[in-house]
Amino acid sequence: MGNIIRENFDAGKSAAERVKNALSGKKLFAMVETYGCQQNVNDSQKYEGMLLEMGYELTDEREKADFIMFNTCAVRENAENRVFGNLGALKHLKEKKPDMVIAVAGCMPQQKEVAARIRAKYRHVDIIIGTHAMEKFPELLENVLEQRARIVDIEEHDTVCEGIPTNYGGGAKAFVSIMYGCNNFCTYCIVPYVRGRERSRQAEDILCEIKALAHSGVKEITLLGQNVNSYGKDMGQKEGFAELLKKVDEIDGIERIRFMSSHPKDISDEVLKVMAQSRHICRALHLPLQSGSDRVLKEMNRVYDTEKYLSIVERARELMPNLPLTTDIIVGFPTETEDDFEKTLEILKKVRYDSIFSFIYSKRAGTPAAKMTPCATEDEIKARFDKMLEVQNEISAEINASQVGEEQLVLVEGRSKNDPEMLSSRNEANKIVNFAGGDELIGKIVKVKITRAQTWVLFGELAEEDE
Ligand code: 5AD
Ligand code: SF4
Repeated sequence: MGNIIRENFDAGKSAAERVKNALSGKKLFAMVETYGCQQNVNDSQKYEGMLLEMGYELTDEREKADFIMFNTCAVRENAENRVFGNLGALKHLKEKKPDMVIAVAGCMPQQKEVAARIRAKYRHVDIIIGTHAMEKFPELLENVLEQRARIVDIEEHDTVCEGIPTNYGGGAKAFVSIMYGCNNFCTYCIVPYVRGRERSRQAEDILCEIKALAHSGVKEITLLGQNVNSYGKDMGQKEGFAELLKKVDEIDGIERIRFMSSHPKDISDEVLKVMAQSRHICRALHLPLQSGSDRVLKEMNRVYDTEKYLSIVERARELMPNLPLTTDIIVGFPTETEDDFEKTLEILKKVRYDSIFSFIYSKRAGTPAAKMTPCATEDEIKARFDKMLEVQNEISAEINASQVGEEQLVLVEGRSKNDPEMLSSRNEANKIVNFAGGDELIGKIVKVKITRAQTWVLFGELAEEDE
C-alpha cells in the first residue's frame, strides 16, 4: 500500500487568492459539467467552490462561460463518447471567444491513453487534470491564465486534502465523501485504476464538515465512498464505518443519513445493528449484487457468492423488517450465459428490490475482463437487459402499489419538474413522492399519505398533523 499524503488546501488557497486579485474587476463566468456518479458530483462541487473562491460566478450556459470544465466518468464507454462529442462542440465556442479556458477533469484523463488522445486531438483544451490533482487546480488555472500554456497533470499520488471550499448548492441535502479510491479490482471495473487506493478521511474532519452543514440548514447527508464498509481500514480500524455512523447519528440537525456504496463482502453485522438502532440513518440499503450467478461473481472477483449475499439480506431484514433494498446489476459480463442471466432474475424475484440500477457491460481497456471472450451477441445482451427491466418493473410497481394508504415522512426538495403544481419529495427509501403543497414546505420533512402509485413514483397528499 502506498503512502497516504495528508494535506490542507493552503497552497491552493494562496493560488486562488492570486487568481482572484489578477482577475479583479472582470466579471467572469464558469461552468462545471458533471458526468457519472455521486463522487463526481461532489468533486464538481469542490471545483465550483474553488472557482467561486477565485472570483468567478457560476453559470449553466456554455455560451456565457469564460471557463468550462467537463468533470468526466470512465466507468462505461458511452459516458466517454458523450464527453468526446461535447468536447468537439466546444471548439466553435472557443474560436468565437479565444480567451475562454477549457478543462477536462476526473476519471477519463486519469487514463494515460485518454489524456494523450485529448491532448493530441482536442487542442482547444487548456487543462487536463486527473482525479489525484484536484487540490492543485487553482495553481494550474493560474498558470494557464498567465502563460496561456496547455497543462496536463495526471500524476498519481494518494492524497487526502482537507479544506477545499465546496459549493453544496444550498439545498437541504448534501454529499460528504468519507474516503477516496478503491482496493477491490472487480475485473470489469476501471475505478481502482483511476481513483487510486482506498484512503479514509479522519473522522474529526468528516464530523466537522457535517456539523457545519447542519448549521447551514442541511437535513440529509449521504456519506460517499466506493466501498464505505471499508472506511477506516487503512487507518487500522476494524469497525471504522460503524463507529463513524454512530457519531454522525448524534449530530444535531441532521435528520437523515444515507451512505453508498456498500460492498457486500465488507458489510459487517455491526453496521447493520447501528443502522437498526440509529435515530437518523434511513432504513434503506443499496447493496450492489452485480450478478446472481456464483460462477460470474467469481470471475468478476466480487469475493462473495449468492448464499453469502442472501444471508446479508436476511440478517438486514431480520433487524429491520421490510427493509427496502436497491442494487446494481451488470448484464452481459463477457462470460455470462443465458443460464447465468436466469440466476440473476431469480435473485431479483427472491430479494424484491425497490428498484435496480442496471447496466450493460462495457469493455474497459486495461481491466482483466477486457481480455475475456464474449459469449453472447449484442442483440442477445440487449434482450436480457429488456427482460430484466420487465421483471424488475413489475416488482417495483407491486411494492409501490402496496404502499398506497401508508403515511410516510418525506423531505421536500422543490417543485416537480413535470408538474409545477406539485411538490417533489423523497421518502425514507429515497423514492420520489409528489404531492400538492406550498413553497413553504420546501426543505422540510413532512408527513404525506400515499394515494396513488406508479412504477417509479408515488403520489400523495399532505397528512393531518397528529396533535
Ligand atoms: N460496465 C458496466 N457497468 C459497470 N459498472 C462498473 N464497471 C462497469 C462496466 N465496465 C457498474 C457496476 C457498479 C456501478 C457503479 O457501475 O454495477 O456498481
Ligand atoms: Fe469498481 Fe468494484 Fe471498486 Fe465498485 S468495488 S468501484 S465495482 S472495483
